[in-house]
Amino acid sequence: MNMIQRPRRLRGSEGLRKMVRETRMDKSSLIYPLFVKEGTNLKEEIPSMPDQYRYSLDQLPYAVEELQNAGVGNLMFFGIPEHKDEVGSGAYAQDGIVQRALREAKSRFPDMYCITDVCMCEYTSHGHCGVLCGHDVENDETLKLLSQTALSHVEAGADMVAPSDMMDGRVLAIRNTLDEHGFKETPIMSYAVKYASAFYGPFREAAGSAPSFGDRKSYQMDYHNSREGIKEAILDVQEGADILMVKPAMSFLDIVTKVHDEVQIPVAAYSVSGEYAMVKAAAAKGWIEEERIMCEMAVSAYRAGAQIYLTYYAKELAKCMDEGKIG
Ligand code: PBG
Repeated sequence: MNMIQRPRRLRGSEGLRKMVRETRMDKSSLIYPLFVKEGTNLKEEIPSMPDQYRYSLDQLPYAVEELQNAGVGNLMFFGIPEHKDEVGSGAYAQDGIVQRALREAKSRFPDMYCITDVCMCEYTSHGHCGVLCGHDVENDETLKLLSQTALSHVEAGADMVAPSDMMDGRVLAIRNTLDEHGFKETPIMSYAVKYASAFYGPFREAAGSAPSFGDRKSYQMDYHNSREGIKEAILDVQEGADILMVKPAMSFLDIVTKVHDEVQIPVAAYSVSGEYAMVKAAAAKGWIEEERIMCEMAVSAYRAGAQIYLTYYAKELAKCMDEGKIG
């Protein structure tokens, strides 16, 4: 047989396979989402997210230390307040849960890079991502509160803010507010291409943020659309976003690739709570190999074009990278 091309030649050994790898990753591109909650002495496991916890502030340093030891240096904070109200005032309170968590984390771990999720849904009594006018979320009124929230996070020590609300114009509104207050150098990572997704189910249980009526389809995107995702991405670049995020990750890798090809700024993919829950549940049944699935999911996001990966598996992935299993 006269065969000149034999793709198997480059698959002959582990060393060779690693040499010709197209996708390389590094722990520095991982971001770990972390839930902080009012109260003391709390480390509550989230029922639909085994091994993930809601931490009270006194427990936070232990969690951060573990991440630091694993080589994960980037956090994304989510807050669970004591009280909610119509206008989500806990989101932008000076002594709000995220603001206090930032002060705590930055004073003890100055090198930890602290990003915050900027949204209202954990703080509003109705669970929507903005203020209501009737049963609709009022876009432009919400922008003021989101800007206030982002500013309060940065004043409390946030290194970067990440608006996840999907209001129109929020990146520009936040950029202007930060600039006016002298925070010209603080980057914005926009949840630019965020779909209305059932994959957020476990998160909403974790954060108690499910909408009390209706759904988020009037502001989050319809998952039938991909060109609209590019439109959202381009708008956010024009508004001053420094990094764009696509969310969820696994079912939206085509979007990651398209956004990556279309814009010149870094692209992040968020492997969300439902993705994590599915893997955990199937692994608990003994139906899949958790570690190998986790690695494939992560590599596929990078392969699709993500430079940054948000995942509840950050610690475990870092370990696999240390062990040379991926990366
Ligand atoms: C806040 C927000 C959500 C997630 C991140 N930021 C929930 C939502 O939009 O309903 C989901 C994260 C996850 O599922 O892991 N708006």
